[in-house]
Amino acid sequence: MAGLNVILLGPPGAGKGTQAERIKQDYNLVHISTGDMLREAVAAGTELGVKAKGFMDAGELVPDEVVIGIVVDRLRQPDTESGFLLDGFPRSLSQAHELDTALDAAGKQITMALAMIVPESELIKRLTGRRLCRDCQKPYHVVFSPPRQEGVCDQCGGEIFQRSDDSEETVQNRLEVYRTQTEPLIDYYRSRGVLTEIDGVGHPDEIYQRIRGSLSQ
Ligand code: AP5
Ligand code: MG
Ligand code: ZN
Repeated sequence: MAGLNVILLGPPGAGKGTQAERIKQDYNLVHISTGDMLREAVAAGTELGVKAKGFMDAGELVPDEVVIGIVVDRLRQPDTESGFLLDGFPRSLSQAHELDTALDAAGKQITMALAMIVPESELIKRLTGRRLCRDCQKPYHVVFSPPRQEGVCDQCGGEIFQRSDDSEETVQNRLEVYRTQTEPLIDYYRSRGVLTEIDGVGHPDEIYQRIRGSLSQ
């Protein structure tokens, strides 16, 4: 079977990273998270990271000329032949068009866009309580999914930290940016016949079962 090429769509805090951990293991997909890639570049102090940091801290989108190149380069790597899972990209219609152009040129297409639906009040609770592993990026939550040992990643023993853009004020702006720039992608992928909406409220395992049900159809 050819690999699945999946987009995880959803507002900040919808659980894209949480579900990506599960999906990538079971379906053997390469997980491409632009947020994780940009945060790595910021931490490493590369030119890309320097350009991206101010936008990320303000909760704004990093400009297309910075982001599109890193995704297109990543999709050219041979490990993506067996399927990929895009998390946090595309995030605007212009990015979706660029992605289509790159995939067309490679003779590939999107199998499914999974839109995770979560009410805004829940998103704010999730984001302001989120913690992450500095090494493997596994997401945690101070109330909903704490690590077994405080401050230490269950999966790799890495240090757990809070993202600088998870303050209440930045979260509000990220949600606004999502509504204006990213939400239109739901209709875009619906009109192309690849959209599946997933109820993103409930236990992460329960949500994953809904995703599995859709991916196996
Ligand atoms: P990015 O890192 O992509 O952040 P985001 O889209 O804001 O999404 P999040 O990572 O915050 O949420 P998530 O859906 O992954 O949720 P998670 O699983 O962690 O982007 C960051 C920034 O980078 C952007 O603001 C922008 O500046 C830049 N950027 C990135 N991509 C770009 C692009 N394409 N173009 C331009 N700029 C770009 O879960 C959240 C929390 O909730 C966790 O604590 C988790 O444990 C908890 N949780 C998860 N599921 C559940 C559940 N079912 N019940 C209870 N709690 C749950
Ligand atoms: Mg994420
Ligand atoms: Zn870890």
